[in-house]
Amino acid sequence: MGILSAGAAETPLVELRALSKSYPEGGGERVVFRNLSAGIRRGETVALLGRSGTGKSTLLNLIGGIDLPTAGDVLLDGMNVTRLPEQGRTLFRRRHIGLVFQAFNLIPTLTVIENLLLPLELNGRTGRPARAAAMELLGRVGLADRNNTYPDRLSGGEQQRVAVARAVVHDPVLLLADEPTGSLDAETGTRVLELLLELARNEKRTMVVVTHSDAVAGAADRVLVLQGGRLVDGTFSGGATE
Ligand SMILES: Nc1ncnc2c1ncn2[C@@H]1O[C@H](COP(=O)(O)OP(=O)(O)O)[C@@H](O)[C@H]1O
Ligand SMILES: [Mg+2]
Repeated sequence: MGILSAGAAETPLVELRALSKSYPEGGGERVVFRNLSAGIRRGETVALLGRSGTGKSTLLNLIGGIDLPTAGDVLLDGMNVTRLPEQGRTLFRRRHIGLVFQAFNLIPTLTVIENLLLPLELNGRTGRPARAAAMELLGRVGLADRNNTYPDRLSGGEQQRVAVARAVVHDPVLLLADEPTGSLDAETGTRVLELLLELARNEKRTMVVVTHSDAVAGAADRVLVLQGGRLVDGTFSGGATE
């Protein structure tokens, strides 16, 4: 098993240490945020709120090891992923992290079931047991009967349910979702969020979800708000961050 299965309960699963991110711009630099620190406990579900452009996606990409900070460190279960070489970060992410994006990002040339088999294959899981795991999860998101369909034959909500299933099929300890309902109507979005919460909580997974939804903020264990380059613990107060 990976290192993430053995951590002491009191070690934060995610630890952000003095995290800064800037982008070069016009000879100078554009600071997205500076000196962010936070800890997220094992099994906690966190809603990350903040106005457009405050750096929510940037922060999620840093937590997931997709992007590197300008300064500071991201520790996952005590492991400093920021200091891993790129290949190491990729392997770590494949094994331990599940990602859901606003734009679904399913692979259009693969069937629904093949989209789910891919993260398993990347973790060395193939054949009948992998297929059974993928089918089981498709069942849980209510799409077992669509397993041989291509993503473009599905509605937006169905595609996102497949994407949610794909994000957890390899049993990641950390689930990161960036505005997962941003492309869906309210009712469909609610169903997707309920699924995310259920698939996180049932397996005691830790989840960070970037959202503008009051419902998600209300259902999450904790709300973090990015504002003015700072990360503040907050209770969502109906649209105040919009
Ligand atoms: N690759 C990039 N190059 C330059 N600036 C970027 C890049 N990615 C994001 N930014 C800038 O960083 C800021 C935060 O972006 P983002 O994390 O996407 O915000 P949010 O997700 O909260 O809307 C924005 O001002 C954006 O323009
Ligand atoms: Mg964003």
